[in-house]
Amino acid sequence: PRVQSLMDEIEAGLPEGRIPSAIFGNPEVYQAELRKIFGRSWVYMAHESEIAANGDYVLRKIGEDSFIVSRDEQGKVNVLFDACRHRGVQICRSDSGNSSHFRCPYHGWTYSADGELVGAPLWKNAFGNMKKSENGLAKAAQVESFHGLIFATLDASAPPLREYLGGMAWYLDLVFGLDKDGVEVLGAPQRFVVDANWKSGADNFSGDDYHLGTLHKSVWSIGAFPVPFSENMMGYHIQASPGHSLSFSMAEYADEPGPNFFGFPEDLAATFKGSDISPEQLEVARRSRVFVGNVFPNFSILALPMTEDGANHAPTGVLTIRTWQPKGPGQIEIWNYFIGYKNMTPEQKDRTYRAGLGTFSLGGAFEMDDTEPWLTVAKNGSSVAAELLDFDLNYQMGMPGVGIATEVDPDDWPGPGKVFWTRYEEGVQRNMYSFYADMMRAEPGEWPEFEF
Ligand code: FES
Ligand code: FE
Repeated sequence: PRVQSLMDEIEAGLPEGRIPSAIFGNPEVYQAELRKIFGRSWVYMAHESEIAANGDYVLRKIGEDSFIVSRDEQGKVNVLFDACRHRGVQICRSDSGNSSHFRCPYHGWTYSADGELVGAPLWKNAFGNMKKSENGLAKAAQVESFHGLIFATLDASAPPLREYLGGMAWYLDLVFGLDKDGVEVLGAPQRFVVDANWKSGADNFSGDDYHLGTLHKSVWSIGAFPVPFSENMMGYHIQASPGHSLSFSMAEYADEPGPNFFGFPEDLAATFKGSDISPEQLEVARRSRVFVGNVFPNFSILALPMTEDGANHAPTGVLTIRTWQPKGPGQIEIWNYFIGYKNMTPEQKDRTYRAGLGTFSLGGAFEMDDTEPWLTVAKNGSSVAAELLDFDLNYQMGMPGVGIATEVDPDDWPGPGKVFWTRYEEGVQRNMYSFYADMMRAEPGEWPEFEF
């Protein structure tokens, strides 16, 4: 009942730009999210370059549950529930590796990399003619890739990934499709635990540019980010499709000088012209300084120019992808990966990796700032006061009559979605919470709209 009433409050409050604080800390809401959001949505698992060779695997999560993401002997990607069919024991005890088989530590049932049961100790006496084919590992209901990004869902009724991504696919194209040979992860993902609610990360990466001038003032002042605050706010907020939002800091006019292609080196950017994305997508990417976006529920992307250590180096482009892995109503594990374009030189990969480490990693100048306020969002969200006072939060920026942001005529923007000019705007977050409430209310098998 508490979950229902909070969802009612979101629905009633969103037109006024109000969201109940309790959704960031209430344990019942969190339990419902595991089932209704993480149990149904397309969840990001891994990038194909992490499991490039047959037999490669990584251990990942959907909600709080472990899954083995493996490339089998046929080269196919599998997402296997990491639970032995015999007694439900966790099989995979390593974060990543290469193996043709997975052997359960309890009694030794052994599965191939595609999840099929291939044998067990003392087979003939113990099981004789028992059918192996009916005793493999459970698999995610659907698995699909987009630009090498592997997503999985536990819901057989989920629409195809492309449909789920909706308008967001156009924007993912222009980040991940710039290099005709694609992207690859640089190094292993970083992981760190923060006492925050997963929605704070998704909310921030849906397009919270407004915090840059205050929270990141110190980073700005050492010159680590080469775009002035007010200029940075001159860009677009885009509700790509229900649930998925993003934000572009862009040159205001086509020939404006400044970092192009998110600050990636010019000689690299010259090769982007050989890619197969549309001229319109290429032009948007060319004029972009910053791209930040969130694929609902918890997969975020950020591309921007960054220096390696304050003003001592010239900036380079940084592309990070990350998940806000839920570990409770007030805890997440952040999985953070740096991404390189395939045709970067080793030096370019090294520079972008180091610039990423210095800014968006546990010890990074931006990351340290960002996570701190989220701790208190979760703490206040779980408080007695928030419940007794019906405490709600303000998401009004950019609503009609509030601030200067205005909706852009679809004819003046080449991509899909609802587009707003200037980033003084919080429709991107309202879009996320509107879809969130729809998912939380949906009956099994029922899906909200994926187009506006
Ligand atoms: Fe895995 Fe028995 S629980 S072999
Ligand atoms: Fe930030």
